[in-house]
This record gives sequence, structure tokens and C-alpha cells, in this order.
Amino acid sequence: MILHTLTALLLVLPALVTAAIFPPDTKVKMLDPKGFKRVMKNNRTSVVAFVAPWCGHCKQMAPEYSKAAGNLNPMVPFYAVDCDAEANKPLCATQEIQGFPTVKVFPRGGQLPGQKYESGERTSNNLIKWASRSVPNKIKASPNHDDIPEWLEKNIDLPRVILLNRDKKFPLLWQVLGNNYHKKIAFGHHSDPEGKFAASLGFTAREEGRFSKVIVYPAGSSVPILYEGGNKYEPLSKYFRSIVDGTADFLKASTEPPAKDEL
Ligand SMILES: *[C@@H]1O[C@H](CO)[C@@H](O)[C@H](O)[C@H]1NC(C)=O
Repeated sequence: MILHTLTALLLVLPALVTAAIFPPDTKVKMLDPKGFKRVMKNNRTSVVAFVAPWCGHCKQMAPEYSKAAGNLNPMVPFYAVDCDAEANKPLCATQEIQGFPTVKVFPRGGQLPGQKYESGERTSNNLIKWASRSVPNKIKASPNHDDIPEWLEKNIDLPRVILLNRDKKFPLLWQVLGNNYHKKIAFGHHSDPEGKFAASLGFTAREEGRFSKVIVYPAGSSVPILYEGGNKYEPLSKYFRSIVDGTADFLKASTEPPAKDEL
């Protein structure tokens, strides 16, 4: 009996050791070579830590890395590769991992070369700042609303989305989405603290506690649509995906034949 328990324990031990460097509720996902390939195929900014379970600096970094992962979740996914695992060794070799931990950011999946973290102490704050800075900025900021019509016209072949908010800057969320949908949707930003530009488009209704507006122009169209879903990563991503794959409600409405009269 004891022997059985011991054997069972020994069998699960390697897995436990691997997982143990990150806290149990971590947003850091472990990657194998297949998983890494998937991450390289999407075009998102992703962070990957190459670690070994026995490495002291890895253990020291793990809670900070995990905290950064939680802070940037779901905008910038954080991953880890256990380079001690036999199956991962070729991957760690092609990534030229020479010391542990090596943290890399891939600004656009496999489309742009990965960059090593070299910004000092690996604290969560430093990691967050570094990862945020690494997101390519594809947002066309138009401080002056007179510039917007020209931008809309120039990108008429694409769906275009403009964030109107109260701030001079756009949030990281918008920058992340602009990178994720680069070349598929054109992203703009305009600071509209008094809602003047929104009003000029006919969007005046203001909901309590909800100021930011996302205005959408379908490809080829100059008629603005007000997005009415949630202003978070998941609902916005779902909506943009539906625009790209052609299933968005407003797209269906324009391509479906008019309903026949039933009377
Ligand atoms: C990633 O970007 C490339 C080049 O812009 C594009 O061809 C590809 O479809 C994109 N992949 C995804 C999953 O969006």
C-alpha cells in the first residue's frame, strides 16, 4: 500500500515540480512546442518566460511574473516554457535560450522577432511596463476631428473603428486590439471630452458611467454605427472578429434579401 502510494507520488512529481514555480491561481500558461507554435500563429503581443524548475532566479521571478500576467490578462497573454522538459529542449535551443530565466516578448506572434527582457529587475511593474511598451501601435490618433474624414476615406476598403473618449490618450486595450486586428480593421482615436464629435454623428445619448464610444464604419461605407456592447477586451474582440469574418449583425442586415411580406 505504502509502496503504491510512493510510486504514484513519484509518477506525478515531475508535473508538480514544473507547475510549482507559479502560484496555483496564475494566469501564466505552460507551453509545449505545439502550444508555442499556436501562439506564434496568432498575431497578438505575447510574453514567454523560458524557465527551469530548479533555477533559483526563476522561482524568485515567478510571483512577479504571475502578477504581471494577472494585471495584463486578457490583453497580453503570459506563457512559460519549462526548458528542462525533454520535449521542450529543441524549442529552447531554437530560441537560443542560454540562461534562466529568459523572458521574451513577441510583439506580433511570429511575425516580428522576439525581444529579450533587459529592463532591469524583474518586478511585476517593470514587466508590465515593458510588455505594454512592446505592443505595436497601429492607432491613428486624430487630435483634430477635421482630420477624421480624410482618414476614413483613405481606409475605405477596411472596416474602421474610432474610439471617442475623454482622455488625450487611448488606453492600452485599444492599442492591443489595434495590433490584433492590424490590416483587417483600421483603428482610430479621437479625444472628445464634451461629446461634440459624437453629437455631430448623431450619437448624443449618454449612459450613466459610460462615456467612451466606439464608432464603426463597415468596409466601403461612410455611415457610422454605434457599438453598443461592453467596452472590455472579450466583448470587443468578439465583435471585431464578427466584423472580420462577416457575421456581424449589421453586415447580415445589408446582404440578406429583404424579408417577404407575410400578409
Ligand atoms: C496575422 O497577420 C498576417 C499578416 O498581416 C495575416 O496574413 C494573418 O491572417 C494573421 N493571422 C491571424 C490569425 O489573424
